[in-house]
Amino acid sequence: MSQAAFDSLISTDQLSDVQITQLIERALVIADNPALFSSRCHGQIMALCFFESSTRTYFSFSSAMQRLGGSTIGFSDTATTSIAKGESLADTARSMAAYADIMVARHSELGSMEVMSNAIKIPFINGGEGVGEHPTQTLCDALAIIKKFGRLDVTIGLLGDLAYGRTAHSLIKTLSRFGANFYCIAPDPLQMPGEYIDLAEAQGVKVHCVNTLDAVASKLDVLYVTRLQKERLPKGFEGAVTDQYQVNQATLSRLKQDMIIMHPLPRVNEITVDVDSDPRAVYFQQAADGLYIRMALILQLLNKE
Ligand code: NCD
Repeated sequence: MSQAAFDSLISTDQLSDVQITQLIERALVIADNPALFSSRCHGQIMALCFFESSTRTYFSFSSAMQRLGGSTIGFSDTATTSIAKGESLADTARSMAAYADIMVARHSELGSMEVMSNAIKIPFINGGEGVGEHPTQTLCDALAIIKKFGRLDVTIGLLGDLAYGRTAHSLIKTLSRFGANFYCIAPDPLQMPGEYIDLAEAQGVKVHCVNTLDAVASKLDVLYVTRLQKERLPKGFEGAVTDQYQVNQATLSRLKQDMIIMHPLPRVNEITVDVDSDPRAVYFQQAADGLYIRMALILQLLNKE
């Protein structure tokens, strides 16, 4: 079946299951020999408009564009742009789009991605929108699961701040389409919002919400850990939930041998550093492979396949 082309990525809802699978397959091909693709985007420019801090998303997109032979312009500190003078989001996007061929943006407000993409005519990618979605992180996550299991219908424990963590939101709504079952493991104030549970269950998968990892640890193929989203918590909320969950050596002994521990990063203190050397800990590889997913996505959106 032929797939409708997509010219922006704001939500994984825009991608069919086949398109998601194809992007992952493409990323794996690129990862095998990135040099083969090193001039595909020669002469093209990516605008990176980041209104929120970022390490991996910003620099992996920047690196991806440069590894494809293109170049980048942009900001991750709005103090250096006319936003500091009060310029609107739409005007900023419109101006940046005039100097580039593709745009990636991140912003703390819901609706910001639509405002920006509607203001421009070049391909647009959501690099993280407030408490909403982070579609390219989900593609990276899916790639890590495919690399380990060769399929996506696995049992995933989402641990941590599921209320305010956008990576968990995008993951549950997307991988439930592929038959993944979920345990949402969080203290009550940080549990997965009902709308995402409903979306997942509408796909016919099971979502169990629990408060602690102990009872479910031995059932998981994937433990997906997230940090407390301190910058998004309501005032006075943090003390109530800090340090209620942590993956450490004691946790490792309760997990299966044939499973993986993932994290979108940045890690703060929810995984102790002595877990990093466990063969099940794949989070740094997960981040590294984000480069290839982003190369695949850029090629797709710029029709450079
Ligand atoms: C995440 C994000 O920005 O949502 N980071 C990332 O892009 N890998 C996760 C987080 O900030 O906790």
